[in-house]
Amino acid sequence: MNNENILITGVAGFIGSFLAKRLLESGNVVIGVDNLNDYYDTNLKESRLNNLQTYDNFKFIKSDISKKEIILDVFKNEKPTVVINLAAQAGVRYSIVNPDVYMESNVQGFFNILEACRKYPVKHLIYASSSSVYGNNKNVPFKEEDRVDYPVSLYAASKKTNEMMAYTYSHLYNIPTTGLRFFTVYGPMGRPDMAYFGFTDKFFNNEPIAIYNNGDFENDLYRDFTYVDDIVEGVSRLISLPPSSEDGNVPSTIFNIGNNNPVKLMDFISTLENALSKSLNREVTFQKVFEPMKPGDVPATYASIEKLNKITGFKPQTPLEKGLQKFTDWYVDYYKKK
Ligand SMILES: NC(=O)c1ccc[n+]([C@@H]2O[C@H](COP(=O)([O-])OP(=O)(O)OC[C@H]3O[C@@H](n4cnc5c(N)ncnc54)[C@H](O)[C@@H]3O)[C@@H](O)[C@H]2O)c1
Repeated sequence: MNNENILITGVAGFIGSFLAKRLLESGNVVIGVDNLNDYYDTNLKESRLNNLQTYDNFKFIKSDISKKEIILDVFKNEKPTVVINLAAQAGVRYSIVNPDVYMESNVQGFFNILEACRKYPVKHLIYASSSSVYGNNKNVPFKEEDRVDYPVSLYAASKKTNEMMAYTYSHLYNIPTTGLRFFTVYGPMGRPDMAYFGFTDKFFNNEPIAIYNNGDFENDLYRDFTYVDDIVEGVSRLISLPPSSEDGNVPSTIFNIGNNNPVKLMDFISTLENALSKSLNREVTFQKVFEPMKPGDVPATYASIEKLNKITGFKPQTPLEKGLQKFTDWYVDYYKKK
């Protein structure tokens, strides 16, 4: 797949920027949209964009997906053949204190993307959902067909809403849509609001890290961490595989995209300490305080990736040690730490 005109929203974001790079390198035209909001350090978004601006086949449009007329104009002018909607307000905890922006970006914004795909048909609309739709689901590994009717944060509710809206538009207007439930994605140039990044910041600020597992290591939290290159590989493979509407099927589907290899939070933290020790060439031990779980957090996320594997052959390749090493090497270099 190398001849498409691909619109990526959230292109200055963590996943969007890696995906754009891969698709540009395989010869596609990428039109990137992002509103460059200041939810986290905008310098990081600018750095990611600067890397992309070196490609002739890349075009950046600074705009907001919650503005319908602007988004319709982007579709009219750029004529994308494939759309990958990653723009969203992310973060579970932030949705507790700042709910409005989730409705604007995640619900109204996604509605605008669907409307634009209705007016200017595309071969495939891929959009980001989230593992958080599984809420407090106890049946691990999480499977796509599990019931996900009980979201425990507005962020999760907004993503579940996206899945239902996509199904409706596929049903009514025959738009092929694929939703991706991402499971904690990490890597270099990642999101500063995520734990591995925040822990590293705290180490250099000489502050303790807060671990929300109550200090209960027997019943530690489990997370399925997925390295960003693996995510990019999975998404790239899916682009040319839109769900079919043959035999009267609604061309709408959903995949987990994760690692199928959950890690205890404490093991994750020691792996991060080891990686940072290697990057700095000195022993690193985080100061730690243990606190109860936060509202909206879930005890375990763990993906079944059988469905995606069957269709694409996708299997994550990056062990946690290797992925975190790439993150800490990047961090130390980018922020000039010693
Ligand atoms: N990283 C993860 O672990 C993870 C897990 C589950 C789901 N997701 C989802 O994947 C997608 C990408 O995540 P990410 O980690 O790259 O996040 P990110 O915050 O780094 O990227 C999102 C980008 O979208 C942009 N954006 C936000 N609202 C916008 C709007 N209204 N109009 C235009 N641009 C807007 C932001 O400026 C940002 O650059 C998001 O939809 C997120 O909810 C990510």
